[in-house]
Amino acid sequence: MEVIIKPDPHAVSKEAVRIFENQIERKSNSVLGLATGSTPLGLYKELAALCRANLLEVTRVTTFNLDEYVGLAPSHPQSYAHFMQEHFFRYVKIPPQSIHIPNGLAKDIPKHCEEYEAAIKRAGGIDLQLLGIGSDGHIGFNEASSSLASRTRLKTLTARTIADNARFFNSEAEVPHHVITMGVGTIMEARHCLVLATGEGKADAVAAMVEGPLTASCPASVLQMHPRCTLIIDEPAATRLQRIEYYRWVYDNKPQWQRVKGMMSLE
Ligand code: PGA
Repeated sequence: MEVIIKPDPHAVSKEAVRIFENQIERKSNSVLGLATGSTPLGLYKELAALCRANLLEVTRVTTFNLDEYVGLAPSHPQSYAHFMQEHFFRYVKIPPQSIHIPNGLAKDIPKHCEEYEAAIKRAGGIDLQLLGIGSDGHIGFNEASSSLASRTRLKTLTARTIADNARFFNSEAEVPHHVITMGVGTIMEARHCLVLATGEGKADAVAAMVEGPLTASCPASVLQMHPRCTLIIDEPAATRLQRIEYYRWVYDNKPQWQRVKGMMSLE
């Protein structure tokens, strides 16, 4: 796993943008796995600005979002479909038919989940999967104890995630208890996983993900087994890492050929 430590959330977004740009420039019909939450907001803003300035062309990409709340229509202000529309899709020219988000109103959820998996396969698999990390180490909505081989399915949120996400709703009571999420196994099949984390509230989860044991108690730790995972964090999120000086040293000493557009990356 490549661990990149940046001074602040803005610098984290800038670095992540370069990875997205590079991916789309190399393969204009890339399949992108997208995430919601506060952490990727800066990245979406920067990508939208690049598209607006005609510096990035996204008309040929296909997207698959990680998750959605069960029971919320795409038009619901707290649905992830609405989030993506508001913060990203309305600003860029990705054809609507190329955008995939689990349907929170699906009548037959297991069937819908199977179809979601099949659509990812049909698209050729995910090239670049963006991920946040929950304060409890979840990725997507794969809560602690999720099978590390899981596929897209229904999950029940933990009380902690419900409390964490209550800030987006009028009250905690309004947060749905169930979600549809890509599984850990689904995420692990992406060719490149890009995890972003900022703030001290994520420091324990980041340390467990990078340096803790590989365990379903911290689903993000499975990324230790991923052949190509890049983690970009800010200084506060890095505070509990034991090998922080080594990660900095690796980054500062990357050979020239591994640098992409001014950044260091295992491209
Ligand atoms: P956040 O959520 O970006 O809002 O912190 C991350 C997550 O729960 O995966």
